[in-house]
Amino acid sequence: MSVRSRIVPILLGFFISFAPGKGEAAPQGISTEQRLVSVMADTKAREAASAAGKRAAFLCVHCHGEDGNSPLAHVPNLAGQNPVYLLHQIDKFGDGRRKDEFMSGLVKVLKPEDRFNMAVYYATQSVRPTPGHDVRLREAGGRHFARACAGCHGASARGTKDVARLAGQQPVYLRIALEGYRQGSGTRSDMRMTGVAKNLTNHEVAALAAYLSALP
Ligand code: HEC
Ligand code: HEC
Repeated sequence: MSVRSRIVPILLGFFISFAPGKGEAAPQGISTEQRLVSVMADTKAREAASAAGKRAAFLCVHCHGEDGNSPLAHVPNLAGQNPVYLLHQIDKFGDGRRKDEFMSGLVKVLKPEDRFNMAVYYATQSVRPTPGHDVRLREAGGRHFARACAGCHGASARGTKDVARLAGQQPVYLRIALEGYRQGSGTRSDMRMTGVAKNLTNHEVAALAAYLSALP
């Protein structure tokens, strides 16, 4: 056996055991989701991950804004979104369960640690709601939300780790997302949302978007 053929496996073993996401960063037996929840609960770890996430997010600023408040109407705000939901959506773009012409290609270049840290960064930013002017439309949206959506998205529309936060989301994006589910466009499939969205009228979609985007 040559020296080289003995050294290569040793080097490989070294790199694998120190690869990002392994070793001390992810203790054995803890899922990424559990680690994300514990980092969010620990001030020092959260601030470190958030700072790393902000550096990695230079790729995202153009569309999602410096602090996760999007300057483009069709692009969702990420600020204040649930971190586990954010990470799951990034993974879904990466493996094709969710499709978008820009996002799908982009996330493939992100390392697991970048995805993790960006989820922490955006989740810890504050979302800026869009105040709507049509009070009657907003009120109609609020009534519909309480009846048809609050059971899953929460009374204040703040979401959970599996269900998106909708409060303060971009109104145009909300409409696009609801129409996507309603048409079963295939860019995004979720049994729970497709079931709800297929019965929505255009007026209800507009009212819901006006109501939700104005919520803090
Ligand atoms: C060229 C514009 C563009 C860039 C750059 C971009 N995004 Fe997006 N992003 C979008 C659009 C558009 C959507 C909505 C896609 C859809 O309708 O499903 C989206 C959706 C998302 C979502 C899902 C949000 C939700 O509420 O479900 C996440 C998470 C996300 N992007 C993260 C990122 C991250 C992290 C980066 C940087 C690495 C990034 N994006 C860069 C345009 C962009
Ligand atoms: C049975 C539970 C359930 C109900 C009821 C429900 N949703 Fe959802 N909603 C979800 C889940 C789960 C997701 C995330 C799906 C995914 O990962 O694609 C979601 C996602 C969404 C999104 C996409 C958010 C984003 O950031 O991309 C919008 C918009 C939305 N829901 C609006 C509504 C509205 C409006 C109603 C009421 C008419 C409603 N939902 C009722 C479970 C529900």
